Amino acid sequence: MQSLAVLVAVILFLMDGLRACLPYVTRDAWDAHPPKLVEKFTGPIPYVIIHHSYQPAACYDEKECQKAMQIMQRMHQQDRGWNDIGYSFAVGGDGRIYQGRGFNVIGAHAPRYNDKSVGICLIGDWRFDLPSKKMINAVHSLIEYGVYNNIIASNYTLIGHRQTRPTDCPGDRLYKEIQDWPHYSPLQDVVDPNSIPT
Ligand SMILES: *[C@@H]1O[C@H](CO)[C@@H](O)[C@H](O)[C@H]1NC(C)=O
Ligand SMILES: [Zn+2]
Repeated sequence: MQSLAVLVAVILFLMDGLRACLPYVTRDAWDAHPPKLVEKFTGPIPYVIIHHSYQPAACYDEKECQKAMQIMQRMHQQDRGWNDIGYSFAVGGDGRIYQGRGFNVIGAHAPRYNDKSVGICLIGDWRFDLPSKKMINAVHSLIEYGVYNNIIASNYTLIGHRQTRPTDCPGDRLYKEIQDWPHYSPLQDVVDPNSIPT
């Protein structure tokens, strides 16, 4: 009985270790500009929305992926005038999770869903190619981390960006892939954002 308790303790300890190892890159580490404004919403978060960047193209090491994050932030923050990079998180071809706005911060990635979702961008163009196993595993770890810590609702709904507005995102190949992921919903709630009064 005692050895069982020890075994359980060891397993729990190892699981904790795995969580601590979430391959996570802070904003400081990718040299983010500060957000112009941070608006929060309360959780647990009911939706996970999957994107591709289309551009920039896939990145394969730390340096390239940091650069991709900087390019996306500049595009969103300066060219489009948003508060910050649009996504909550991005995943690079290096298998690491780059913090965008983070959890429970209103994003700019899917109109009508920005205050009730976590927007995860797989950096690259995934119309014809599938992101690597490493990238896909990183997305799953991030979602599991969120659910385990009650940041993401345990009954969350996972969808692709194209299910909320007219867009190719997250690319045909990746969109096909996510339909096999846990919690995927065939929900169709496509509204042209240009038709929504702001
Ligand atoms: C998830 O659970 C919450 C709280 O129990 C409930 O209000 C919500 O409708 C559920 N959502 C789905 C998609 O089942
Ligand atoms: Zn998108």
